[in-house]
Amino acid sequence: MLRTNTCGELRMTHVSKTVVLSGWVQKIRDKGGMLWIDLRDRYGITQLILEEGQVDAALLTLARSLGREDVITAQGEVIERSSKNSNIPTGEIEIKVGQLHLLNKSKTPPFTIEDDTDGGDELRMKYRYLDIRRTPVRTALELRHRLSIETRKYLDGLNFLEVETPYLIKSTPEGARDFVVPSRMNPGEFYALPQSPQTFKQLLMVGGIDRYYQIVKCFRDEDLRADRQPEFTQIDCEMSFVTREDVLQTFEGLMVHLFNKVLDVQLATFPRMTYADAMTYYGCDKPDLRFDMKFVELNTVVKDKGFPVFDAAELVVGINAQGCSEYTRKQLDALTDFVKKPQLGATGLVYLKCNIDGTYKSSVDKFYSPEELQKWAEAFGAKAGDLILVLAGAPDKTRKALSELRLHLADEQGLKDPKVFKPLWVIDFPLLEWNEDEKRFFAMHHPFTSPLEDDVAYMNSDPGKVRANAYDMVINGVELGGGSVRIHNRALQKQMFSILGFTDEEAQNQFGFLMNAFEYGAPPHAGLAFGFDRMCAIFSGKDSIRDFIAFPKNNSGRDVMIDSPSVIDAKQLVELSLAVKK
Ligand code: AMO
Repeated sequence: MLRTNTCGELRMTHVSKTVVLSGWVQKIRDKGGMLWIDLRDRYGITQLILEEGQVDAALLTLARSLGREDVITAQGEVIERSSKNSNIPTGEIEIKVGQLHLLNKSKTPPFTIEDDTDGGDELRMKYRYLDIRRTPVRTALELRHRLSIETRKYLDGLNFLEVETPYLIKSTPEGARDFVVPSRMNPGEFYALPQSPQTFKQLLMVGGIDRYYQIVKCFRDEDLRADRQPEFTQIDCEMSFVTREDVLQTFEGLMVHLFNKVLDVQLATFPRMTYADAMTYYGCDKPDLRFDMKFVELNTVVKDKGFPVFDAAELVVGINAQGCSEYTRKQLDALTDFVKKPQLGATGLVYLKCNIDGTYKSSVDKFYSPEELQKWAEAFGAKAGDLILVLAGAPDKTRKALSELRLHLADEQGLKDPKVFKPLWVIDFPLLEWNEDEKRFFAMHHPFTSPLEDDVAYMNSDPGKVRANAYDMVINGVELGGGSVRIHNRALQKQMFSILGFTDEEAQNQFGFLMNAFEYGAPPHAGLAFGFDRMCAIFSGKDSIRDFIAFPKNNSGRDVMIDSPSVIDAKQLVELSLAVKK
């Protein structure tokens, strides 16, 4: 028998039992007469002890020859430790070894396999199988497992059917770039890997599967960031005969269930915010509501007092950094540099300190009297001790810069508590986005999203004004999921493709399969998809999704462990019609 127990389960109640444990050597301490081995497996660490005179000399010799990460099996008696370790669950006992076997030698690992490791990112990715032995990575994968099990339980309880959809599909021009796969049997033709199962889940609705879900891989050839991987996982869902309200309730319910079961956190009803309000009050469509600093527009308060920058600006808008009135010159300069960096492009930052003693000090005292500055403070509801920061300029750019400043201040002030969860629904997104380079509209969500009923009338006359029946779930400033009520009517879908600049022929070529299906009794349907990797990261209070993926890619889209992508054989290229035979 290679093990009777795991390295995480033995306690005082097991004392005097004979057990067999197997695992990896974490550490050896040799004090001459006594030798201890920390033995590790997925479940924990248990201490083994070998005492000179009490065990066979050959066993001691074998134990002394062991190195880190060797795989061993030990048999022995569970005994009470003389000096206990309260830091680990097995810390009250140890195993008095009677037999020891080396199952496999290990080379010295390239980094220490402990919670705090000395290995850099790339090295740990190259040896990901060793990194997975570390507790933080293992617990990340365990969390992922719990979330997927609880998701399945919840959706199964509501009659959702998990259906698999194909990975070899057809390339489409909308959305991100596709990863493509050459077809050997159809020379010169390519499959594309799905960016999401969007059209297939809609076809499942036409097929009468009125509640579908799938925990599914999606592939997008886009630039990578901490919260983006080229292959990632969605919890993809679709329902028939539902309104937006039904979808929001169902999936808010899923999140409440997951937070309750997995983190024992009880979430209250999610607030809802229109896209327009999110942009007006937070300057972005995924506001982090763990902290306040809501935007306040100051146009009516600050204009026509002789300060040319504000007078010339289309928008003057600010935030109140509570309790920050004592920021030093140096700190304020750093904030100014922050908003002036090229990505944000603000021309300057105006501040107003609401001093503790009730006086005001601003960077524009020359133009505003104390009474006028008090009016600013009132607009923010600011108290003594607060710091008001104001930007001015073109509306979109100014809001974006202020949004970044808001997040930056929250970081500086430690307001992004990873243990606090503030979800919300952002609703009523614009249906279309104008692309200046291509001089045409793009669907903001995707081309299958339905316009809001009230706005259908503008579809031809003023498409930019039409709002979509689309929604995003946002938690702590992260877009966790998004979806929409879909178009289920051929004529409206055709009109949508035409607004997006497709000729009838192109629309038929690309999406004929869906439009044709709509002619055979398509039910009204709606759905959404969550980013599952992001969900795992949020539950752990982390920004990067990489550690929640067993074998992730690096920032250049490479798997440095298997060294992929890689060149392929000349013969393979010919076979795939990607090269001619020489
Ligand atoms: P969308 O494109 O908004 O919608 O994607 C849904 C969610 O998937 C996650 N996500 C990603 N996660 C990691 N890496 C990526 N590269 C990545 N891209 C997206 C995000 C996002 O909210 N078919 C529609 C959904 C629908 O309408 O039902 C769709 O794919 O968390």
